[in-house]
Formats: sequence, structure tokens, C-alpha cells
Amino acid sequence: MAVGIIGLGYVGLPLAVSFAQAGRDVVALDVDRRKIDALREGRSYIEDVPDDELQAVLGQIEATSRPAALAHCDAVLICVPTPLTGNREPDLGPLVSSARMMAGVLQAGQLVVLESTTYPGTTRERLAPILAESGLVAGEDFNLAFSPERVDPGRTDYTMRTTPKVVGGLTSACGDRAEALYSEVCDTIVRVSTPEAAELTKLLENIFRSVNIALVNELAILCDRMAIDIWEVVDAASTKPYGFMRFDPGPGMGGHCLPVDPFYLSWRAREFDMVTEFIELAGKINQQMPYHCVSKVERLLNEAGKPVNGSKVAVLGVSYKPGVGDIRESPALKILALLAALGADLAYHDPFVESLPDHGLCSEPLEDVLADADVALIVTAHPGIDHDAAVAAVPLALDLRGVTRRTGGPAVLL
Ligand SMILES: NC(=O)c1ccc[n+]([C@@H]2O[C@H](COP(=O)([O-])OP(=O)(O)OC[C@H]3O[C@@H](n4cnc5c(N)ncnc54)[C@H](O)[C@@H]3O)[C@@H](O)[C@H]2O)c1
Repeated sequence: MAVGIIGLGYVGLPLAVSFAQAGRDVVALDVDRRKIDALREGRSYIEDVPDDELQAVLGQIEATSRPAALAHCDAVLICVPTPLTGNREPDLGPLVSSARMMAGVLQAGQLVVLESTTYPGTTRERLAPILAESGLVAGEDFNLAFSPERVDPGRTDYTMRTTPKVVGGLTSACGDRAEALYSEVCDTIVRVSTPEAAELTKLLENIFRSVNIALVNELAILCDRMAIDIWEVVDAASTKPYGFMRFDPGPGMGGHCLPVDPFYLSWRAREFDMVTEFIELAGKINQQMPYHCVSKVERLLNEAGKPVNGSKVAVLGVSYKPGVGDIRESPALKILALLAALGADLAYHDPFVESLPDHGLCSEPLEDVLADADVALIVTAHPGIDHDAAVAAVPLALDLRGVTRRTGGPAVLL
């Protein structure tokens, strides 16, 4: 029997390939025609899925935008985006529309699993009632579960198979069914008692990262004022063999997860008369980081007798993390916008991001970006770039990732 995947992005496409590699036929559905066309031609648009890996299983993957194809699947996994609205409230639009589509083709005996990150209660209170519009009852006529995705784009030390998968079923039979399915592609399944526990597990993981990144970022701002090297402090603290986990300071948080997911929980918590202060505080500090970085650029230029206005600023790396082209919520975008507002003459180099239409910029060759630059700014340190050579080629440099510190290069650190 085939596995259906709704939403073929960073989460859905690797899942589709994994199930195909495990021998399943896969119905891969997306509303984005360009993705369907690319998949049919064996062209991957996700860095973690090389073309040859996709092409090796292409015969088993039916890329489609036709919901009817899902009726023949024994399990359907929903991997659509869960963004925030402009007011920073959960935007369940894609989830609701994919659920409605699923309700139109749902068959008795199918398993439906939600993988999208969301607040506790979504699977039971939002997804199940929409699927019930089919006339079928969750937990009785079909199985329903939540299983959060833990994919970390660009990571190679853990794979889908070696990363434990958390599963929470609406009923214990739903959990059994989901566990059996994921066992085909994951070595370790972690069962929790409810979808709510599974939903909150994912949020705890992301909030943990967000809070710890904010902590070290706040210390970085303090260290800047106290003239203490934050990197030296983090390196030293990391030698403690227990009770400490390393987090590095940086220009802020990016990606689809950390800047977004925690606010799903703070929104939900308000219904329970709770203000989740750690989440709000971490968000506030991390959102301040691009402003701190730009003020360091201003100070650096000022010390050289130059205003930001008219200075040529070379930005290295604009995606939110090394080795990927994902620019969602990337702090580089905020830094570029703030520098542009101050009148800087901007250019950037990023081998993973061809252009930034909203900023009117295209990636230029590294040599061109560095030529005549007044200051270079390492925002995201992509592999394969000689950052030491880059900072040596310009009069001033600011290294927001600490990648040049080991060689004691001339760059000023965050
Ligand atoms: N990217 C990550 O690293 C990551 C990691 C863990 C969890 N997640 C979570 O997984 C979910 C998906 O994230 P992503 O990064 O894969 O998003 P994405 O934007 O890369 O992919 C989502 C896909 O869903 C499609 N889509 C949107 N609405 C649809 C609909 N109604 N029907 C069918 N397809 C639809 C989009 O066209 C897109 O291709 C989110 O909830 C996210 O928080 C993401």
C-alpha cells in the first residue's frame, strides 16, 4: 500500500524519499505546481535530497496535485507549513485547507498523521473535526496521530533512520498503527500517550533552543560592553563535562521553526490564563540581535571615521544557517534592511541564495563583493568559503559567527 505525503517541503520531501527507499509507493501531493513539475523531472529543490537519491526512487513516487490519489494510500502524513499571522498568532490556514482536502477523499481504515509543528490540542480539536466532515470518526473509522518532525536541514550526523521519532495516537490503536508505519523508516519510536504530549514535546525542544540561544545572546551584548570575549567564555564553559550544553551567540534566530513555533504555545497558553514569560523574553532578546549587530557595524565604521551612509558593506551568507539556502526569518534580512535604511551600499555573497528580490540584490562573486568594501560582515558562515582570507581582504570586518577567532584574524567578533 502507498503512503501519502501532503506538503513536499523541507519535511515532506525527505519523508517521501525515505518511505520510497524503504520500498513503499508514495503519493506526493503539493499545491505548488513548480514542485510537482520538478519532482516529476527528478529535480530536487531541497539540499538534503540530492537529485540522484530522488531519481533512484522516482518510479515509486507519484508527484501530484490531485487529492483523489490519496484515497489509495493506507497512511497519509500532513507536512504543511504552520506559520504565524502578521499579529504573531498561529496561522492554521494551510493545515485547515489540507485537512478539508483530506476529508474529501478519506477512506475507512486509513491512518492520518499530522507532522506539522503546532500547539497542543491541534490534532484533536482542529484536525479531527474537519476530517469528521467525511462522515468517518477519528479513532473508530480511521486512525489519527501526531508525530513531530525533527529534521534539521543540513545535518548529516543524524538521519531520519537514526533520529528517534515521537508518536502520540488519539487512541492506543492509533498509536500502534503510527508506530508500525514509522518503524519502516526509523530505528527508534518513542511512544507518548496522547497527540497533545507529542505536540508539546516538539515545542519543548524548540523552546529549549530558543531560550538558551537568547541567554548566550544576552551575555554577548553584556560582554561587548564589559570588553570580555564571549567566545572565550563559551569555549571555557563548554569544557565542563556535565550540566552545561554549548550554545553559540549569533545575529539572531532564523528558519521556519525557532522564531515561530514557541509563539504557538504562548498563544495557546493565554487560553489557560498563563503568560509564558521565558518564550516572550527569549523572542525579545533574539529579535534584538540584528539591531545590536548593526550598531556594531556603525561603531566599527565610526572608529575609522566613516558613516554607514555611503559605505560599501559586504555581507557574507544570508541564509539562516550554514549549508542551506533557506532564508525564512533569516536575521541577515533584518540586518540588510537596517543597513539599507542607514544608506549603506550593500552587496552580498551566498552560494546557496541566488537573489533577494525584496532587497533588490543578487549574490555576487566573493571577490567582487569584497573589492572596495569598507567593511565585511560574516552573517552566516557557509562551508567552502575561506573566511580568514575574506576578512584579510578588507579594511574592516565583523564576524558574527566567531569562525575567524581560532586563527586570530583581524575581524572584530560579535
Ligand atoms: N524545516 C524544518 O527544518 C522543520 C523541522 C521540523 C518541523 N518542521 C515543521 O514541519 C512543517 C512543514 O515545514 P517545512 O519546512 O517542510 O515547510 P515548507 O514550506 O518547506 O513546505 C511545506 C509545503 O507544503 C505545501 N503546502 C502548503 N499548503 C498546502 C496545502 N493546503 N496542500 C498541500 N500542500 C500544501 C507548500 O507548497 C510547501 O511545498 C511546519 O509545521 C514546520 O514547522 C519544519
